[in-house]
Amino acid sequence: MPVVTNVEDLRQMARKRVAKAVFDYVDRGSYDEATLRANRADLDALHFRQRVAINVDQRSTRSTMAGQEVAMPVAIAPVGLTGLNWADGEMLGARAAEKFGIPFTLSTMSICSIEDVAGAVTKPFWYQLYVFRDRGFAASLIERAKAAKCSALVMTLDLQVQGQRHMDLKNGLTVPPRLTPGTLLDVMTKPGWVLNVLSGRRKSFGNLEGQIPDAKTLTTLGQWIGAIIIMTGVTALPLSDSHAQIGSIVHDPTEMVDKYLELDVKGVRLDAMSQEAQAPYVTWEHEPVWGRAVVITQYEVINDFKQWTVISQAEVIIPVEYKVLGSVYWERASFLSEPKVERVGFRIKIVGDRWRIAEPLLPPHIGQKRMINYVRQAILDEKDQARTGTLETLLDDLKKAKHEGPASAQTSH
Ligand SMILES: Cc1cc2nc3c(=O)[nH]c(=O)nc-3n(C[C@H](O)[C@H](O)[C@H](O)COP(=O)(O)O)c2cc1C
Repeated sequence: MPVVTNVEDLRQMARKRVAKAVFDYVDRGSYDEATLRANRADLDALHFRQRVAINVDQRSTRSTMAGQEVAMPVAIAPVGLTGLNWADGEMLGARAAEKFGIPFTLSTMSICSIEDVAGAVTKPFWYQLYVFRDRGFAASLIERAKAAKCSALVMTLDLQVQGQRHMDLKNGLTVPPRLTPGTLLDVMTKPGWVLNVLSGRRKSFGNLEGQIPDAKTLTTLGQWIGAIIIMTGVTALPLSDSHAQIGSIVHDPTEMVDKYLELDVKGVRLDAMSQEAQAPYVTWEHEPVWGRAVVITQYEVINDFKQWTVISQAEVIIPVEYKVLGSVYWERASFLSEPKVERVGFRIKIVGDRWRIAEPLLPPHIGQKRMINYVRQAILDEKDQARTGTLETLLDDLKKAKHEGPASAQTSH
């Protein structure tokens, strides 16, 4: 056994022992391998920060990951076909990880099955899921991982379509495998590897054999109850304007401010009249009560971050430019036209896992449409004839109001 001092030593050992097609599957990347090279360079550029002249008696790499105590904060990532590199590779990998005290992630595309690995270890491992088009089958894998007491479900997000792996194509490592004289020769020159792999428990994808028939009814991830979900392959920020995701910190915070203000301009917030409509965006619970409301037609969220005030990584003030029509004085039910452009700082901060608006609370700038809706509702609710007349005048004034101020916010909403 040669002296192994680093990953490169292991790589050279594998190159000698394992069939070229399988070695290349692990060693090589997709297309022209530009991402592989860039990732390698990024990793090489990372250095540990050294600290000196401190007490090192109690040093430890112990930490927690996904609520679990670990010997060091590193997990074994899911790697397909491990059992084709070495017989029962996934079981051996899981055992080694358990012995060392770090999580092991079993790939969907493993050779050993979930149950094989569960039988090889005593502590829970993690299971990586590729969500197949056959959602029933994906659900059956979740059920099997649950039954095997896996403590986390690792969802891979970056394999919507498979990358073209040039070496795999050349080596015939395709589904089904393409046997060429070259691949046969390659295999024949590695008899030790052939015997080893043939001695393994399984020779194909252990998780893809058979299904649980009644698991077809399970179709949502929500059915993975009580376990941690970990996302892997987050190579880009997801773009979505669904309400549930808008405030999430993976989004540009301007997007969240923008969506919130859009509610006003469209007249939505008051139509809904509910905490529900504004809750994804703000930290306060109730609509403020205004004596005076500034009526606007448009707004522009300044996304040039040089104009922001950054308080901390979790708190920032973003300017918003309002195209103001004038003000409504609620007591007198009157509208005073005072067209202009007004700039207001929105203080937003991370609350939990979302961006939320902390200020301004008062006075709110309100979209013209929303204000009109509000006055209409007030007319319907009003019992006093004289007051209804005043409100009707206000409604007319609001409908007639047109912005005549500077045009700098013209391009906005
Ligand atoms: C040979 C190989 C096979 C992989 N198989 C899987 C897989 O089956 N499922 C998965 O989610 N990720 C798979 N990955 C991705 C890894 O889990 C990991 O996310 C990726 O390699 C980045 O980590 P690294 O920089 O430490 O290599 C595979 C990676 C390699 C190199």
